[in-house]
Amino acid sequence: MNEQIAILDFGSQYTQVIARRIRECNVYSVILPFDVSIEKLSALKPSGIILSGGPNSVYAENAPLPDPAIFKLGIPILGVCYGLQLMAHFLGGKVEPGTKREYGKGTLSIIDSSCPLFKKLPSKLQIWNSHTDRLTKLPKGFKAVAVSDNSPYAAIENRSRNFYGLQFHPEVVHTPRGKDLIANFVHTICGCGKNWTMRSYLDQAVEDIQRQVGSERVVLGLSGGVDSSVAAALLHKAIGDQLTCIFVNNGLLRAKEADVVREVFGRHFQMRLHYEDTTDLFLTRLKGITDPERKRKIIGKTFIEVFQTATKSVGKARFLAQGTLYPDVIESVPIAGNPAAMIKSHHNVGGLPKNMKFELVEPLKCLFKDEVRQLGLELGLPKEIVFRQPFPGPGLAVRILGEVTPRRCEILRNSDSIVVEEMKKSGWYYKTWQSFAVLLPVRSVGVMGDERTYDYTIALRVVESQDGMTADWVKLPYELLEVISSRICNEVKGVNRVCFDISSKPPATIEWE
Ligand code: XMP
Repeated sequence: MNEQIAILDFGSQYTQVIARRIRECNVYSVILPFDVSIEKLSALKPSGIILSGGPNSVYAENAPLPDPAIFKLGIPILGVCYGLQLMAHFLGGKVEPGTKREYGKGTLSIIDSSCPLFKKLPSKLQIWNSHTDRLTKLPKGFKAVAVSDNSPYAAIENRSRNFYGLQFHPEVVHTPRGKDLIANFVHTICGCGKNWTMRSYLDQAVEDIQRQVGSERVVLGLSGGVDSSVAAALLHKAIGDQLTCIFVNNGLLRAKEADVVREVFGRHFQMRLHYEDTTDLFLTRLKGITDPERKRKIIGKTFIEVFQTATKSVGKARFLAQGTLYPDVIESVPIAGNPAAMIKSHHNVGGLPKNMKFELVEPLKCLFKDEVRQLGLELGLPKEIVFRQPFPGPGLAVRILGEVTPRRCEILRNSDSIVVEEMKKSGWYYKTWQSFAVLLPVRSVGVMGDERTYDYTIALRVVESQDGMTADWVKLPYELLEVISSRICNEVKGVNRVCFDISSKPPATIEWE
């Protein structure tokens, strides 16, 4: 993992997207806070540096500024949006407030096609802008290599110093050839090869785990979700029987979930799997509880108790493995007005109690979710696990409004199986972020045959999203909605009505709770 590109984060909501685009070029990338020390940055020996966008003005009082020494390292630099303005600001150009915000689609006209950023690209490109300030005077040694409708300096270069700047965002999908621009920067300008592949990562990760763990034992809480499953398969490849996975059935799982996990990890991979069925304990403690926060607290606390007891019963282990991902470990940049820094998940559990003294093994902590999936495939995990939709830790409890009872769990489980089955059959399952059923504790009148019914309502929630922070409801074909609705009403006893949730997040959330 020696070749890498360092991205300095000035608070753009797209910084992680830049990192992913680079990795899609098979080059490793790391995100660093904008004020990283020059010693730390140099120690990484990056082949190139990208200055991200950001919500500030370079001349604002509290503008995030990098150590100016980065411009003396002799390393190629690409400034994106705010990054371009910063570079100009530091190197003697002039940035001024624009009269109006340039936002949305635009066209880039390349005026110097010999600029290495534009290698093999057409002379006109569709681009995406999002900025107000603009560059009004080029720094010495720079020239414009492309213009847009509103900017004579949409792309600039100082080829002899290997400094480049783009006023628009090459990383977003609305700049369709942006990936080629980034590829040209990392391969042609920075000279990086294509060494970052999941195959090479796997070999390296196996060695690293073996070195870290030695002959000690490791426990891992397996939830059946993508991250813990891939972490388990990776650790098992590295250390075999030194790994014990603990799978807790809290009684709030989807239909067949426990069977799938036991089949895949226990029988197929032959892992040491400790299965703990604590359905009764969880459901007893949830009896009579209707407040969503209390339900969550009870489930979280009970899980820790059960897990703690299980770790003791499987024998002493020095390490605890976790499927932490890269987005969880990137230091967020505390910049006022930066939405990316302000949105925090309320779901992150507080971790395990202090008296559980484990050292951590986190073999996925430099990977993005899509990379974890590739790694899962590389490790031979079935598609059903690798591409499954996110499922919340408190399980069906956040999808049964009001009290959680065994009967309601059964109704929801049966309804949910139909949703998943039909979504998979129609090919929509893998195209959506989440698709599931929610049980509403209200009953309404219906009619079945000659009989009047008084049954529950199921809400169908199907959303698309990038990361769960925001979401939009998916416009499923009426025919599919019809099949799901009629199957649920006909096949699930206790339900006589199905509604489709057409709310986006915000203002709604994905789960109903
Ligand atoms: P909301 O409902 O807040 O959910 O829009 C956003 C995403 O988080 C998932 N979620 C959870 N995941 N533990 C988890 O691991 C939880 O307690 C939890 N609650 C919600 C939800 O499914 C969605 O993907």
